[in-house]
Amino acid sequence: MLYSAIAVIISYLLGSVSFSIVIAKWLKGIDIREHGSGNAGATNTIRVLGKGPGITVFLLDIAKGVVAVLLGQWLSGGDAESWTPVLCGLAAIIGHNWPIWFRFKGGKGIATTVGVIATLAFLPALLAGIVAILAIAITRFVSLGSLLFAALTPIFIALLSFSLPLLCASLVLCVFAFVRHKANIVKLLKGTENKLGAKKGM
Ligand code: G3P
Repeated sequence: MLYSAIAVIISYLLGSVSFSIVIAKWLKGIDIREHGSGNAGATNTIRVLGKGPGITVFLLDIAKGVVAVLLGQWLSGGDAESWTPVLCGLAAIIGHNWPIWFRFKGGKGIATTVGVIATLAFLPALLAGIVAILAIAITRFVSLGSLLFAALTPIFIALLSFSLPLLCASLVLCVFAFVRHKANIVKLLKGTENKLGAKKGM
């Protein structure tokens, strides 16, 4: 119990390392949250700094989710019904969205969610990921792909009968994603959402 609590706290602190903020500061001396969409994430890093830094941020944000879940799995001895890996994954995403190191103003958590879900349930993550990538390729709306990934993950997890902790976590992650994408949803409905490849929209 004590080890699980420590693992969850470590996962939150790890998730709080916002790579888009760190890399934008390091490369250009700017706060990414004051540019583009204002989001501290990979999509906005591509928009503001270009593909190389954006993809780097995407991979590092995924890695945070993977490491947090692996830490939880290691502590729970690989027990599929354990809550520890799931709580560690959730903590990493909470850290990414509300980072203690950056005044609790972080990103929308999708890349870290991809890392968490892919580590906990690879097939549902793969299926949801394929749909999300297709949606982004067709529409150029990353936010639409992100929302589809978040919404489809619990459905695929339920259909493919994964564990209860995992189903609960995927539902919570879905709620997080929709709450964090509130402004994107409004823009999608109004037809004013930024497209991938469009320069520095707000
Ligand atoms: O995961 C973030 C993405 O869905 C939207 O990012 O910067 O366009 O709001 P952004």
